[in-house]
Amino acid sequence: MKKLVPDFFAMKEKKEKITMLTAYDYPSARWAEEAGVDMILVGDSLGNVVLGYDSTVPVTMEDMIHHTKAVRRGAPETFVVTDMPFMTYATVEDALRNGARIIQEGGADAVKLEGGEHFAPIVEALVNSGIPVVGHIGLTPQTTTQLGGFKVQGKDLESARRLLRDAEALDRAGIFALTLEAIPLEVAKTISEKISAPTIGIGAGSYCDGQVLVFHDMLGIFDRFKPKFVKVYADLKSHGIEGIRNYVKEVKEGTFPDNTQHTYAASEDLQGKLYGD
Ligand code: KIV
Repeated sequence: MKKLVPDFFAMKEKKEKITMLTAYDYPSARWAEEAGVDMILVGDSLGNVVLGYDSTVPVTMEDMIHHTKAVRRGAPETFVVTDMPFMTYATVEDALRNGARIIQEGGADAVKLEGGEHFAPIVEALVNSGIPVVGHIGLTPQTTTQLGGFKVQGKDLESARRLLRDAEALDRAGIFALTLEAIPLEVAKTISEKISAPTIGIGAGSYCDGQVLVFHDMLGIFDRFKPKFVKVYADLKSHGIEGIRNYVKEVKEGTFPDNTQHTYAASEDLQGKLYGD
């Protein structure tokens, strides 16, 4: 049965870990649903792993809506969260207009946005308008230029305290989950204990209330770079390339298609009469 917002709070209460996985299209969403993930994230990481950009910054609202629709069709029974792209939630007005599009046109159940305390009024406006929100702090890929690259955040006392302040402000503003990306596990533990919303970690250790991974990373499809926090559970790239190589080889040598298995034979009536003979 599809889980809804109160179920995620109940899972935190019961100390039942929440599983989240990204998906970007119909087949990946079907796999995620069949495997039983609690929540799907249509992450703007699609810019990297599906569209081949160097960052998530070029991803547009149209991209997110297009991919969310496909995910919704593939996983009708799973809670779907969609990332709001860079600069689509800079003002309350933009956030409400774009958040509404993600829910109404895309069919997502909730939106996710990157940023701390400063974004609390935006979160509050979305939640008050009926749009559930997941926060995202720590390493925020939309602003890596300001962060100085893909770096672990919250390593010193001052920045760790800032993360805690951000988490508490977003919690008060009404988020129902908080993604913690690339922060020390002790910092993630404290945040998880201090806020009421479940924390969903990626590179934030095992004390978070749940975990998220990127589909293409954990299945070994995307290998342009591999952060330390990724565990590869299957090597689909090697299997895929091996399959394609075999196909190329068999076509070249004439063993595929096999005329008894993969081909349609004409009826006896038709045979020999095609050119009027
Ligand atoms: O876009 C994404 O996939 C994400 C995850 C890394 C949490 O934000």
